[in-house]
Amino acid sequence: MLIKNARINTIDNKYEIKDIYIKDGKIAEIGFDINSLNIIKKTFLTSDKNIKKLEIIDLKGKKYLIPGVIDPHVHMRDPGLIHKEDLYTGSRACAKGGITTFIDMPNTIPTTTDLNALQDKKNLASIKSLVNYGFHFGGTNTDNSDIIPSKGVASTKVFMNISTGKMLVEKDEVLKNIFLKSKMVSVHAEGEIVEKAIVYNEKYGKNLYICHISSKKELNIIRKSRKKNLKKIYTEVTPHHLFLTENDIKGKNKMLLRMKPELKTIHDVEALWKAINDGIIDTIGSDHAPHLLSEKLEKVTFGIPGVENSLPLMLNAVSKGKITLSKLIELMSKNPSKIFGIKDRGEIKEGYYGDLVVVDLEKKFTLENKTTLSKCGWTPFDGYIGYGKIETTIVNGNIVYNKDQIIENIGSEIEYE
Ligand code: DOR
Ligand code: ZN
Ligand code: ZN
Repeated sequence: MLIKNARINTIDNKYEIKDIYIKDGKIAEIGFDINSLNIIKKTFLTSDKNIKKLEIIDLKGKKYLIPGVIDPHVHMRDPGLIHKEDLYTGSRACAKGGITTFIDMPNTIPTTTDLNALQDKKNLASIKSLVNYGFHFGGTNTDNSDIIPSKGVASTKVFMNISTGKMLVEKDEVLKNIFLKSKMVSVHAEGEIVEKAIVYNEKYGKNLYICHISSKKELNIIRKSRKKNLKKIYTEVTPHHLFLTENDIKGKNKMLLRMKPELKTIHDVEALWKAINDGIIDTIGSDHAPHLLSEKLEKVTFGIPGVENSLPLMLNAVSKGKITLSKLIELMSKNPSKIFGIKDRGEIKEGYYGDLVVVDLEKKFTLENKTTLSKCGWTPFDGYIGYGKIETTIVNGNIVYNKDQIIENIGSEIEYE
């Protein structure tokens, strides 16, 4: 594939127009005015048949080409809860949302807390996922620290508060062992429990990834700990905690907008945006947690779908000048790749995979229940209009989404450094 005239954002939020040649799924060359005939000569036998094989996309105009989003926090529900979502439907929703890699959470049925369950998930994803995938292993309160894999997972996820699934880990000895045995612990920790997680990491851990920071209070804990120069901790925020407040939990949204952590006040939301621009936040994770509408309405159920909304909402924030495109790329692609040690993804660079998204910051998008691809069939942002349309999603050099259409393909499992 040869992408001509790609507008690529540079670190200082300027841009360059480049051509990108992708061969065997990876970016082989980035240059000015790459001549397609030269590539054909270099790469293929110059018979007419082979010349046709070089797919050429010309992006001349104002569209940007950005690295594909790496979503470090999704609940694909597969296996066990596939009436809500599965790896096929969830990955299609990712393709539409510009997410070229997702990392799945362990609170499925069975939970991803032993090697068999992990392998089963890998097998399922290898035949169902359109985009690239990886997995978090789950820590258990019965202490599975002995079988925490040293390779092939992004982290050990530990629920330190109650949430969907029965995965709460609260025994001191067990937490200690899990932190000791993991290269990275990702935590669901809320409020003062964030502090507790930091203390365990300080004493026994190596790296800590704090999921879905949602309040001023949590930000203060993080600021304090970073000042004290403790071990490195990484922080994530979700789009829903940036774009919704507790005031939205009313009327038809009374039951729908329930999640863990719950939505907070406008002051918390403002503090989160400030923290993003101050560099306190490292990633955006969607915390895609689909439940059917009927389930949401029946009884209090925590979680909302996110993979289709995440990049559009953030692109709209770029259009409005709330953050720069460079910052978005850092939060949504570069940092997730670096933090979890993902090999050759997260940047537009020679030798990296052709995981790319074409976006038009001047084009309007609408988020709607009726166009939702997630099996849950709804979005918390029904009717939301913004600027920053996802035109095309490319995974390992293959187009998986283009102009509102899915093109079936199969993703790969990510590798770790
Ligand atoms: O709201 C949530 N839903 N928070 C979580 O931590 C889990 C998630 C789910 O899996 O439904
Ligand atoms: Zn969580
Ligand atoms: Zn989650």
